[in-house]
Amino acid sequence: MLAAGLGTRMRSSRAKVLHELGGLPLVRHPLAALGRLGPSRVVVVVGHQAAEVRAAALASGLPVDTALQAEQRGTGHAVQCAAPAFADFDGDVLILYGDVPLVTAAALRRLRDVHRAEDADLALARMCFADPTGYGRILRDATGRVSGIVEHRDATPAEREIKEVNPGLYCVRATLLTPLLRALRTDNAQGELYLTDVVGLAAQAGRRVASVQIERPDELAGVNTRAELARMEAQLRDDLTRRWMEAGVTFEDPATAYVGPEVEIGRDTVIGPNVVLRGKTRIGEGCRLDGTAFLVDTQLGDRVHVLFSCVADGAVIGDDAIVGPFARLRPGTELGARVHIGNFVETKKARLADGVKANHLTYLGDCEVGTGTNVGAGTITCNYDGSTGKKSKTTIGARVQIGSDVQLVAPVTVHDDAYVAAGTTVTRDVPAGALVATRVPPRVLEGWVARRRAMAGQKPGAAVPAATPRAAKPAKTKARKVSARARRRR
Ligand code: UD1
Ligand code: MG
Repeated sequence: MLAAGLGTRMRSSRAKVLHELGGLPLVRHPLAALGRLGPSRVVVVVGHQAAEVRAAALASGLPVDTALQAEQRGTGHAVQCAAPAFADFDGDVLILYGDVPLVTAAALRRLRDVHRAEDADLALARMCFADPTGYGRILRDATGRVSGIVEHRDATPAEREIKEVNPGLYCVRATLLTPLLRALRTDNAQGELYLTDVVGLAAQAGRRVASVQIERPDELAGVNTRAELARMEAQLRDDLTRRWMEAGVTFEDPATAYVGPEVEIGRDTVIGPNVVLRGKTRIGEGCRLDGTAFLVDTQLGDRVHVLFSCVADGAVIGDDAIVGPFARLRPGTELGARVHIGNFVETKKARLADGVKANHLTYLGDCEVGTGTNVGAGTITCNYDGSTGKKSKTTIGARVQIGSDVQLVAPVTVHDDAYVAAGTTVTRDVPAGALVATRVPPRVLEGWVARRRAMAGQKPGAAVPAATPRAAKPAKTKARKVSARARRRR
């Protein structure tokens, strides 16, 4: 697989094959198709941003080797750089481009099968485009046999009329590869070594050249510009949502659903508008996502309801859970069955057992919460000491009742069945069944408002001036005496 080029026409500082399609780097897409054929070895030719491209290729999970093409002198030169990896190999080598992302395993398999069935030395794919601009055109001799490929830039006006193009998919007998590559020359418009010239060279040498017509040309379109990338994104999105609709998923607005190629969705799940599902996100059956959600590598059990506007990354959500609106589930979040996460709740490295509820304005980080516990509004696990960067853990048992506005200063444990009173700052472990409260008794100053107003010379019903020394200043003399006691209390 060739993936060394910068992709000049993308006008980017990032290598073309690292640009994303469906949330994955371009290079991952053809590798996924290739992987389904179970190749005995895979070599990716890298050059621009070699380390990043290599990492992206390895993330495919295939046993990928890389060959470095330090200077990009054309697609033929790229294959020359990879050829040593096939020196001891006498099978068939599939050559494909990293910028042709929608290639299917079926197309690769057909090419390989035709190559073998016709006992060919070289087989190539071909397809017809109404607008073939940019592609290499397939040339045929008087008898109609494929005789070579001419690049768009090198083609005569008459050759440019040819609609049959080269999608850039080849299968070559490994033993023939090296002699063919050695014969390449740079006498062309770009001064490069064109891989496409091996077709003409093989034909001239009387080798058997086979070709396979690809019926759905859009699956072998190359990405060379950002406009092509956007068109392909729309097409991929369309293909994927259609596939999931066929599998029993409802999309309320398929045009605004973004389902990544590695995502799985169960039957009878309903996906509302503007939902983005990325990475290895898996959604169970009968779930409902109301709309505007961004889920990455997240797993939902069955019958989960995600209300409007939620973000989840690396979270696992149990059956029948309810999440949102406006919730943020960060990596390491594990929610059991029937957990409720409400509005403005953030979780991170948080394991919440079955039936836990945290319905409002809460941060749960580095914690474990036992079955059936209720977390009141405004609860914060204080996990970060602010200086060493160390995060400490909060452990909360089963059936615990945590009141509103509670801080749990980690490391700390609240044991089963305990009650934490509203407004408590928990700094020590709480035994099972205990009540913990840090309460400053409230002071009630009877008649305070009236005194205050008198002090400010105001009529009843006016707003009370703020109890700051500055605000108290204008009312000096009499009013001051009247409020002497009140002032002391203040
Ligand atoms: C190529 C074909 C063209 C075909 C089209 C299909 C050649 C000469 N032309 O043109 O016939 O119709 O693809 O999409 O092969 N690359 C390297 N090293 C290099 C140059 C390129 O690794 O020195 C890689 C690129 O990263 C890219 C792929 O090869 O992934 C194709 O290169 P690109 O420049 O896009 O070729 P096209 O002009 O599209
Ligand atoms: Mg290209």
